[in-house]
Amino acid sequence: MAKTGKDGKVRFGLIGCGEIAVRSLEAILIDKECSVITAVQDVNEPLAKDAGQKAGAPHFTDVAKLLERDDVDAVVISTPHFLHAPLTIQAAKAGKHVACEKPIACTLEEADAMIAACKATGVLLSINYVTRYDAPVKMAAELLASGAIGKVIRFQAHVAADKPESYWSGGYTGRNKSDWRQSKEKSGGGVLIMNLIHDIDRVHQIAGLKPIRVFAECDTHCTPVEVEDNISVTIRYENGAIGSIDAMSCARGTESFGNRLYGTDGQLVLSWPLRVFTTKDVPGLKKKEWTTVEAPGKQWGPEGRAEYFARFAREILKGSSTCDVPGEEARKSLAVAVAAYESAATHKAVSPR
Ligand SMILES: NC(=O)c1ccc[n+]([C@@H]2O[C@H](COP(=O)([O-])OP(=O)(O)OC[C@H]3O[C@@H](n4cnc5c(N)ncnc54)[C@H](O)[C@@H]3O)[C@@H](O)[C@H]2O)c1
Repeated sequence: MAKTGKDGKVRFGLIGCGEIAVRSLEAILIDKECSVITAVQDVNEPLAKDAGQKAGAPHFTDVAKLLERDDVDAVVISTPHFLHAPLTIQAAKAGKHVACEKPIACTLEEADAMIAACKATGVLLSINYVTRYDAPVKMAAELLASGAIGKVIRFQAHVAADKPESYWSGGYTGRNKSDWRQSKEKSGGGVLIMNLIHDIDRVHQIAGLKPIRVFAECDTHCTPVEVEDNISVTIRYENGAIGSIDAMSCARGTESFGNRLYGTDGQLVLSWPLRVFTTKDVPGLKKKEWTTVEAPGKQWGPEGRAEYFARFAREILKGSSTCDVPGEEARKSLAVAVAAYESAATHKAVSPR
């Protein structure tokens, strides 16, 4: 059974101190009331040391040293994808709650093993789908629940990035030099599992879309890596809606992205700010005209990530047996990605498992 914090605070240990871990570290430190970082670890000693200095916590290179500490209640795993499963299972066995980066894992078998290990030892497992907490996404969730656009009949997601060559060996900041993003085995895939999976997670969640059939085409057109840099996915949902989801990481000269939901009575553009069109009488929205709904905070700001960790900490302090984005929920977006890769390989429609 996991421990539940001391002095009203959850004591976090960071496993992996690379690019995103720094943003998580900053987000956790915003929650002065309920969260503190008591240890950090990375196999790369300079990165562990740097994160330790930023957090005011001791640093380690051996994960066992962090996991044996009594002053760590929960860990944040921010490592390459293929390490999410073994590290989560190791942390669960040490009785630590786990907040692991997305995607939950590279394979569904790994995801199932993570979920089972956390259940067996009574620790929480949450996956860091932090864009669910962006203000426009939360507003869109409320509008969808109120029926503002009627029944959802179409979901469009589009990600067109022009990732520089340096990204493939060091991410956007070059903080950690590694080839894991290029490798199918270490990352599970390219722009779909790396980026578009956020869009799939948040929109399926807020719109209640349940995929029943997936068809995909993908390729690696202009990047010298194993994983795809160009993918198009078509999804049929249980309620009859259709999803068109596409992503590129080699869209030369362009950076564009967006999520759009079409309903029987309107449309919702998940941009920042949110834009809505409705044919109905909905409080706060113009009828048969577009309404721009201003949101607090700013795009790419720390607010969503901070809210995600603050909510996770409070569930631990309450002794809850559930939390936001549990492993079972995060498994669903992985199932779509796995089905899409299988479909692209077999040229057949695949039902997500
Ligand atoms: N939620 C988001 O918006 C978001 C954004 C970017 C990345 N990510 C995710 O965060 C994770 C890490 O991505 P990143 O961009 O920070 O990568 P990164 O390569 O910058 O950092 C990964 C870190 O893990 C460390 N590491 C490797 N093996 C380890 C081990 N056995 N024990 C401890 N540390 C180990 C590396 O040394 C490195 O510092 C991935 O799952 C990625 O998809 C999430």
